[in-house]
Amino acid sequence: MCGIVGYAGNKSVVDILLDGLEQLEYRGYDSSGIAVKCKDGIKVYKAEGKLGNLRNVLSNCLDEFKTSTCGIGHIRWATHGAPTVLNAHPHTCTCGNLVIVHNGIIENYKELREKLTASGCTFRSQTDTEAVAHLVARKYFEVKDLTEAVRLASKELEGAYALCVMHNDYNNTIVATKRNAPLLIGYGENEFFAASDVPAIIKHTNKAVYLNDNEIATLNPAGIKFIDGEGNVITPRVETLPWEPVALSKMGYKHFMLKEIHEQSDVIRNILIGKLHAPDENIVLNEVKLDKNTLKNLNRIQIVACGTSLHAAMVGKYLIENFCDIAVDVEASSEYIYRKTVTDTHTLVIGVSQSGETADTLTAVKQSKARGSHILIITNRPDSAMAREADSLVPVNAGIEVSVAATKSYTAQLMAFYLLALYMAEIKESMSKTDLQALKAEMMQLPQKVDQILAQTDEIKKCAHAFANTKNFIYVARGINYPTALEGALKLKEISYINATGYPAGELKHGPIAMLDETMPVLSILMLGTVYEKILSNSEEAKARNAQMIALTNSDDKKLDDLFDYIIRVPAVQELFSPIIAMVPLQLLAYYIAEFLGKDVDQPRNLAKSVTVE
Ligand code: AGP
Repeated sequence: MCGIVGYAGNKSVVDILLDGLEQLEYRGYDSSGIAVKCKDGIKVYKAEGKLGNLRNVLSNCLDEFKTSTCGIGHIRWATHGAPTVLNAHPHTCTCGNLVIVHNGIIENYKELREKLTASGCTFRSQTDTEAVAHLVARKYFEVKDLTEAVRLASKELEGAYALCVMHNDYNNTIVATKRNAPLLIGYGENEFFAASDVPAIIKHTNKAVYLNDNEIATLNPAGIKFIDGEGNVITPRVETLPWEPVALSKMGYKHFMLKEIHEQSDVIRNILIGKLHAPDENIVLNEVKLDKNTLKNLNRIQIVACGTSLHAAMVGKYLIENFCDIAVDVEASSEYIYRKTVTDTHTLVIGVSQSGETADTLTAVKQSKARGSHILIITNRPDSAMAREADSLVPVNAGIEVSVAATKSYTAQLMAFYLLALYMAEIKESMSKTDLQALKAEMMQLPQKVDQILAQTDEIKKCAHAFANTKNFIYVARGINYPTALEGALKLKEISYINATGYPAGELKHGPIAMLDETMPVLSILMLGTVYEKILSNSEEAKARNAQMIALTNSDDKKLDDLFDYIIRVPAVQELFSPIIAMVPLQLLAYYIAEFLGKDVDQPRNLAKSVTVE
């Protein structure tokens, strides 16, 4: 993970680096650091923890760096070595003349470290990155050319990396390269930027080159040079970024997470615009290239995703099987990529990712593409590495999600699956026109129903405060809401650190029921439909073991008042759409528990929004 940023130009560099890093904080916040070229050489400043700590370090320094116009910066999510100042980037070679920032993992760092230590290098950190600093310095000593040194060193690196390098022998120069990690080069007037992601540079420019693997860019205000991995000069395509600089604001909410939860009815409205006009009209998905013939020739669909996106994928399986009669498998990308998978030209592979850059999902998608499968990507980032692998694309249009815990992007992914499954059912003619129309009409009612939930959060807040001090939490559901139970539990774990687990309600009696007593809250997701009565019975079984019972329901059944200690009521909805309606209160429940406990809701410990390492 981690985020990197670099600037070579004519403006004061420190603010550009700090602003850029702030935009990349979603990639990690274990430590941060910058290196800037000053009159008397490169200076490095680092701090443990969030970027604010680095700002404090810099405010205590003399103004020695104020005139500097070239530098590199880093925001870290620790992989190798604890999140300390010593392990914070930038890292330097033994003599300190060369500095480097890195995003990714160098898999052969141990071998490199041994070799470089034996040849006289002094290591100061536990990071994999430091080996790269020493290796490039060694190559530089041999060839006396920084770009060539980076190129030669890259050949010895295994794993994933995006790198920015500076050397004391060079004024205003940064060398940048990448393999299996994102890096883009921004073009300004007599100035160039390097960054892990668009938000870090969009304030300054919307012209950029997405670097391909093994390509190397040498940035200097006087000009930029690109070479490929073999040293040949290349001229990459400069793209116009489809982004507007946005001022990220909480709009009066205490946290971004709460704001993003409250944006969800608009997110649903936005995704429907242009895709579903009226119940009697066909779904429009312009970037999906699946015709009747392709669909007829499919023998299976595989969906790969991680975390919250994986839960959306599980709902997607339910919908596609239900509407389209095609067998669907869902798998965590990290499992999918290290086994023999039976994927071929008759398989549709769907990758789901908010960020579009999750390393495991990206690898899974690339593997399937190499086997000839049609690749369909559902993402909030149509400009991402994953989207660039797509044969078909469903953009989810949730807008920028700042909070590390995904909320509105989950709802948007679910909407993408509803649209996709209905679209495929229309092409395949696997459902009657009347059923399709009824579902589309119901789908168009979702924004109002979500608004109704958001207007009545008191019951949820009361429940949250009653359970805030619990150590464990169990969520149960069945059928299409089993993923809702998993996602509800994930939200609570992520932001409150309470040990929460989601189970299929029918599985309780096969083991987990042993944990139940009066200290254990059990939240039953009881949405009217095929499995309502079944979950009710499973809830009775839990109640009989003295568990504290909470219901999330759209039923007004009076029986529930005796069975449950707390009842969170949501609007009536067709069962197939209940995952959207059920999830919003669970997001709020997790939020209000974490807020009550005083947790860092938007940036929970140990997490990062974008997971770019396997
Ligand atoms: C969700 O709250 C998470 N923080 C996390 O599980 C996330 O969904 C996962 O890392 C996948 O990310 P992606 O959707 O960007 O691929």
